[in-house]
Amino acid sequence: MAHMYTPWLLLIQLAILVSKTTGAKVPAVIVFGDSSVDAGNNNRLSTIAKSNFEPYGRDFAGGRPTGRFSNGRIPSDFISEAFGLKPLVPAYLDPQYNISDFATGVTFASAGSGYDNATSDVLSVIPLWKELVYYKEYQAKLRAYLGGTKANQVLSEALYVMSCGTNDFLENYYTIPGGRRSQYTVEQYQVFLVGIAENFVKELYGLGARKISLGGLPPMGCMPLERATNFIGGRACLQDYNKVSLDFNGKLKALVFKLNKDLPGIKVVHSNPYYILMQIIRRPSLYGFEAVEVGCCATGTFEMGYTCNQMNQLTCRDATKYVFWDSFHPTQQTNSIIVGHLMKTSLAAFL
Ligand SMILES: *[C@@H]1O[C@H](CO)[C@@H](O)[C@H](O)[C@H]1NC(C)=O
Ligand SMILES: *[C@@H]1O[C@H](CO)[C@@H](O)[C@H](O)[C@H]1NC(C)=O
Repeated sequence: MAHMYTPWLLLIQLAILVSKTTGAKVPAVIVFGDSSVDAGNNNRLSTIAKSNFEPYGRDFAGGRPTGRFSNGRIPSDFISEAFGLKPLVPAYLDPQYNISDFATGVTFASAGSGYDNATSDVLSVIPLWKELVYYKEYQAKLRAYLGGTKANQVLSEALYVMSCGTNDFLENYYTIPGGRRSQYTVEQYQVFLVGIAENFVKELYGLGARKISLGGLPPMGCMPLERATNFIGGRACLQDYNKVSLDFNGKLKALVFKLNKDLPGIKVVHSNPYYILMQIIRRPSLYGFEAVEVGCCATGTFEMGYTCNQMNQLTCRDATKYVFWDSFHPTQQTNSIIVGHLMKTSLAAFL
């Protein structure tokens, strides 16, 4: 039927052809969140939430610290690579990169941030609403760079990755006296955060996003920092915090269901790192790990950011044997395994 070959259809066919020839499954990976996916935005801020010094980045290309909170690559980097794009997702505020790099991937994430504005205030980092302001600025730059039509196509076909929430509980709710804890029960606080996540996705959708991954919480009670507080329990995982992660993830899953129902043309998935990380923590040897209770850096019990530095003589030699790099963040090896799992589960929806 010749009349069906409108220019619009041709454009779609061309787009399919282009994506097939480049081998990438999505044209770009666009990232929001906290230290789990910050590639160095905080380097440009006046905050203590930084990691752009050794031994961070020790196993990164060139042994270079970048501001990633790990010995090497972080989940967003592995996701980009798994979709056939670059092996790194650069930070939007990193002056080494410009729009020609950001056209296929960019992260607006900021270590120490959370869904709640009060969380980003704790360490003076970029709040989620500001990450969205940067994203709007990025859209304008992308349109100037690629032209409106092509840019809109990239923006609607890109994969949007959202990863935060841990800091809302561990850096804010359970840490700041007289703050959120005096206003909300932990159950109410979860509802509050999920409401922010919902508005965030709706705003992204309004700006053209269609493929979105909402990241769940890891087993927070098993982070070395939390285990270290459990003297009596012999450094066992804190079950209360793990339960908060499970409850929050359940609410996030329900939100994902609702968003898919409410917003035409959207595809949102819940990328849940909880069970795979728990499996690694319970059976580390199955994954080649030897140390799970403490991180590689320094004593592995409390150090992160400036306290994890090259003055520490105790830092482990081989981070591939450690599940955690510092007291709060997984090693590159763990990040790779988690993303490998997500690519076979939630993110397979976008392949
Ligand atoms: C981006 O940076 C590269 C290398 O530094 C440069 O060649 C290119 O012209 C820049 N592109 C834009 C659009 O600014
Ligand atoms: C967070 O702060 C921004 C900027 O002040 C504001 O627009 C937004 O409503 C706040 N979010 C919440 C959930 O209070």
